[in-house]
Amino acid sequence: MSSTVVIGAQYGDEGKGKVVDLLADKADLVVRFNGGNNAGHTVVVKGKKYKFHLMPSGAIQGKKCFIAAGIALDPKVLKQELGQLEQEISLVIDPRAQIIMPWHNALDLAKEEAKGKAKIGTTGRGIGPCYADRVSRTGIRFCELVEAQRLKEKVERQFGEKQALLQKVFGKEIGQSKEEILADYTTLGEEFSKYLGDVSMEVSEALKGGKNVLFEGAQGTFLDNDFGTYPYVTSSHPTAGAVFTGVGIGARAFDRVIGIVKAYTTRVGEGPFVTELKGELADKIRTVGAEFGTTTGRPRRVGWLDLPLLTTAIRLNGFTEIALTKLDVLNGLEKALVCTEYECDGKRLKEVPADLKELEKCTPVFEDLPGFEVKGSEKEYGELSEKARSYVEFVEKALGVPTKIVSIGPGREETILR
Ligand code: GDP
Ligand code: IMO
Ligand code: MG
Repeated sequence: MSSTVVIGAQYGDEGKGKVVDLLADKADLVVRFNGGNNAGHTVVVKGKKYKFHLMPSGAIQGKKCFIAAGIALDPKVLKQELGQLEQEISLVIDPRAQIIMPWHNALDLAKEEAKGKAKIGTTGRGIGPCYADRVSRTGIRFCELVEAQRLKEKVERQFGEKQALLQKVFGKEIGQSKEEILADYTTLGEEFSKYLGDVSMEVSEALKGGKNVLFEGAQGTFLDNDFGTYPYVTSSHPTAGAVFTGVGIGARAFDRVIGIVKAYTTRVGEGPFVTELKGELADKIRTVGAEFGTTTGRPRRVGWLDLPLLTTAIRLNGFTEIALTKLDVLNGLEKALVCTEYECDGKRLKEVPADLKELEKCTPVFEDLPGFEVKGSEKEYGELSEKARSYVEFVEKALGVPTKIVSIGPGREETILR
């Protein structure tokens, strides 16, 4: 029996999808517990690329997949995604999952536009407005989507209010009439009713029965709505504690809490980025690492590895181990810089300050490590060059958490287990 949690340790896109696919081999259940289709998780198997936004990345391994209560679910996106999968899948969706409606997308875009320079740089997928409705207790849940009469009542009640908000405050439109929305979503509800199931109960039973459960986090620790770089964050909790509230299982110790750490740092959207690089070197890493958003295609901002960020992520998530990804992308650099501390108002900091005002004043203190080469064909840790191992071990020692997985290419097999 084992329970494993996979969490992004930085700002998302660390390679969670790849690691989940790899670990899904030994899992019985794979569970998404936070976020929605703002996520883009990539899995590459035998040269074929799969991109998941809502489906757990265990789908290709044919594992039973769960979309838990904590998810913001866009049924149109799920339909597309299911259509792309070649094999039959086993999927359960919790009745409590929140539904993203067309007005959420329209509001997300309208609010961003109205913010002008202060925009967050959201994915535009309606995530913030959908979760805002959940907190306001007006959201539409999956159990209502699948029952035409309840859906109709909810849409009747909400359409006018959302339309007025969009028109009067933002000068925008939902883009679809109430009748069109009702027709589309009633059909989607009918199609998806077969997936309705109590994820909280099923996962609790599975854990009790000794099954191997894999929890797949979306986004990254510093996009957490409380503990990230607020307000430049998402509207859910990508940290490990959210597994309990997002799935509805009792507090327990997990066997493995794996922090997925990219060997450098990237961020999409606005917000502070202490180790950010600009210019030629940034362009080179972006190109080699194919750092363009899986969901929106936006170029990702890139920078050096940031240890204060990771030290804070370890505290917030309780990582028992780290998976270091994309080591190969740093190939051929003369040196690889690692930020060991922040300097802020003459003080040295080992962790990320809570207040954005302070974080924005932080500058990185770097240690220069020698550049290295990774072939991508190494199977054992000992086959990596000495300089590549020095990089891994420097990070491991500084963080005090073992690096058990080293990823040296996008493919499933381009992975070293220690
Ligand atoms: P996720 O959101 O955390 O699942 O990450 P994304 O899929 O959005 O972005 C990670 C990208 O890096 C994807 O294109 C992966 O195929 C790719 N990737 C993952 N691990 C590695 C690696 O070790 N090396 C290289 N070169 N690419 C990787
Ligand atoms: P995965 O799971 C990277 C970022 C957006 C924006 C902020 C808020 O692939 O790692 P939102 O649409 O959630 O309201 O946008 O969060 N963001 C991500 N960045 N990877 C993700 O997911 C992200 N999901 C949201 O770019 O800055
Ligand atoms: Mg991603």
